[in-house]
Amino acid sequence: MKHPRLICLIGDPVEHSISPVIHNEAFRRLGLNYIYLTFRVRSDDLEHAVKGLKALGAVGFNVTLPHKVSIIKYLDEVTPEAMSIGSVNTVVNDGGKLIGYNTDVVGVVNTFKSLGVNVLNVNAAVLGAGGASRAVINALIKCGVGKVLLINRTLEKAVEVARDCRSASPNTEVIPMELNSRNLQLALSQSEILINTTSVGMYPNVDDSLVPKNLIRDDLIVMDIVYNPVETKLLRDAKERGAKTINGVYMLVHQAAAAFKLWTGVDPPLELMFTAAYSALR
Ligand code: ATR
Repeated sequence: MKHPRLICLIGDPVEHSISPVIHNEAFRRLGLNYIYLTFRVRSDDLEHAVKGLKALGAVGFNVTLPHKVSIIKYLDEVTPEAMSIGSVNTVVNDGGKLIGYNTDVVGVVNTFKSLGVNVLNVNAAVLGAGGASRAVINALIKCGVGKVLLINRTLEKAVEVARDCRSASPNTEVIPMELNSRNLQLALSQSEILINTTSVGMYPNVDDSLVPKNLIRDDLIVMDIVYNPVETKLLRDAKERGAKTINGVYMLVHQAAAAFKLWTGVDPPLELMFTAAYSALR
């Protein structure tokens, strides 16, 4: 197509991202005149890159590690949700005004919705206390979760996330716990859903999992946000134990779909995005 409009991903590294495949396939299918590119941007160059994208009239962009937090100071506006999580993964250029969003939260909410997973008044065990964990916990709270048992290797980080969640949403109990086998057992025995938000199990460490297989019950829902491999060791173990599993492609595609809608105003072709993601990961 002639003169496509620019959307991109900035981060460091970016070469393993499958977002270009997901978005470009969707643009092609719908005949939309956009192109999604990736740019490796070092931290020292972030401000220039953001100003450059604005000057070039980019429609918007995704932001990945390590810029999801530091990008905020270069934006004109940030949604209250992204602000409360403290990280931005999607930026929209609204006539020269750069607005930051976090579509990971809606990505998780829509994952639950699309699969008919009801977390209302349910207890959830969440592994990890980074940016992804904050988005997942926010989504759980939005969906009316009962109690969140937040398990992390570094207890102080879990305490900090729990405190922030509590001040944003005083009615939900978020209980920080240090990662060890006793606490895992304690947390899982009280939970109906387990969500891994750490990078453990990600390629190339495909045989790693934080959860001993024997702790997984067949009535547990086990979700992993790691999408490469699609079936992590945690999900493999969960399947073998008869539990329901949700792989990381769901959150990946649903957050991308939300960003696509923000940039184009067009309903995203979800099925096609899933197919594109799975074939890119195969
Ligand atoms: P993101 O913002 O993408 O969620 P992050 O901030 O690096 O990424 O968070 C990664 C999370 O995975 C952290 O909670 C980290 O635990 P620590 O807070 O103790 O660092 C967790 N994590 C990463 N590797 C881990 C490992 N091998 N064992 C246990 N937890 C791990």
